[in-house]
Amino acid sequence: MSLRPWLLLPAKLAHDIAPLGLDLAASISRPVEAQVRPFSWTRKGRTLNFRNPLGIAGGVDKDGRQIWSWHHFGVGFVEVGTVTPKPQRPNPGRIIGRDIHNEALWNRMGFPGRGAHFARGSLRDFRRDEAMTLAEEGRGFRLPILTNIGKQRETSLSEASADYVWLIDFFNEQTRFDSTTYSDAFVINISSPNTTGLRDLFSQSRLYEFLAPIAERLEFHGTPGLLKLSPDMDSETLEAAIEVSVRLDLDGFIATNTTAARPQGISFPTEGGLSGGPLRLRARQVLQTLIEELGTRRQGRLIISAGGVLSGEEAATRLSLGADLVETYSGLVFHGPKFFDRALRHLELGS
Ligand SMILES: Cc1cc2nc3c(=O)[nH]c(=O)nc-3n(C[C@H](O)[C@H](O)[C@H](O)COP(=O)(O)O)c2cc1C
Repeated sequence: MSLRPWLLLPAKLAHDIAPLGLDLAASISRPVEAQVRPFSWTRKGRTLNFRNPLGIAGGVDKDGRQIWSWHHFGVGFVEVGTVTPKPQRPNPGRIIGRDIHNEALWNRMGFPGRGAHFARGSLRDFRRDEAMTLAEEGRGFRLPILTNIGKQRETSLSEASADYVWLIDFFNEQTRFDSTTYSDAFVINISSPNTTGLRDLFSQSRLYEFLAPIAERLEFHGTPGLLKLSPDMDSETLEAAIEVSVRLDLDGFIATNTTAARPQGISFPTEGGLSGGPLRLRARQVLQTLIEELGTRRQGRLIISAGGVLSGEEAATRLSLGADLVETYSGLVFHGPKFFDRALRHLELGS
């Protein structure tokens, strides 16, 4: 086991200085050779090429400020966000905790971030630098970026759809001088337990009405949209979410977000979401149920597995269960950015 000095710091301090540490580590290390089990995804005439199937989960890089460092450490894709229309502060009080023994994380952040304008600027800057690098190196590589979007804290549930529609339009806005698509796909996040009432949008009476205008805008822009699921959905709610997503022709799913459940032996506050080790089995279960329920309705839909992926072995398990891609937050916290290099080596040996 390598040294992990950040685990000696209080969780909030480690979280706050992580971006600095990441960029520093990237500047003094060699880039990771990341071409392992490449995967090409095509749906509705759009293709995304992933140099490997391991990515950064939502919440790690909320404003898209560190995409180059993730690229350096070998990720196959980056999920930026959750981005809200306007800047937003975290929930008051304690917002993050860690249980090192169980490799568990707890958070009640509530979508803090600098807002859509800032995040779109980050993506634009990254794409510009990426295009220059590609031209210099003569490579055809482009890092897939998914933008995870969420409603503003004070937006009511009945108005929530409009926030997501606005974000999709905003990220697709192009000027006469710039026709680049910054975001390759959107992740519709209504599964966070940290925005009051958000998960009620999954209720059968609300979901279709909420998602229909969003699906229409995605279709209009030709940008894929994925729905991020909660591990706390019962089978009926999950089946209904699948049925509505298929009816509206969404392009896939991320399973799962954090859980509001507290397995035995875990002593975090009752509020907030739990992730990491204790979420592993439930995340596997939801992935399996999702794939079974979709059955022949999968039709090229992209499935990304998240939740308790803390090793290359677990990443391989999710792929063998039928996920196309795998992403992690807790893997980074407990194993640092080298996580990707190690996990990729494991996948390479196993392939
Ligand atoms: C501190 C923290 C912040 C998070 N923020 C977000 C977020 O803004 N949007 C989102 O969709 N998921 C967010 N998540 C959930 C992760 O993307 C992921 O779905 C979940 O943590 C399960 O993966 P893990 O077990 O690898 O951590 C967050 C998780 C943590 C621990």
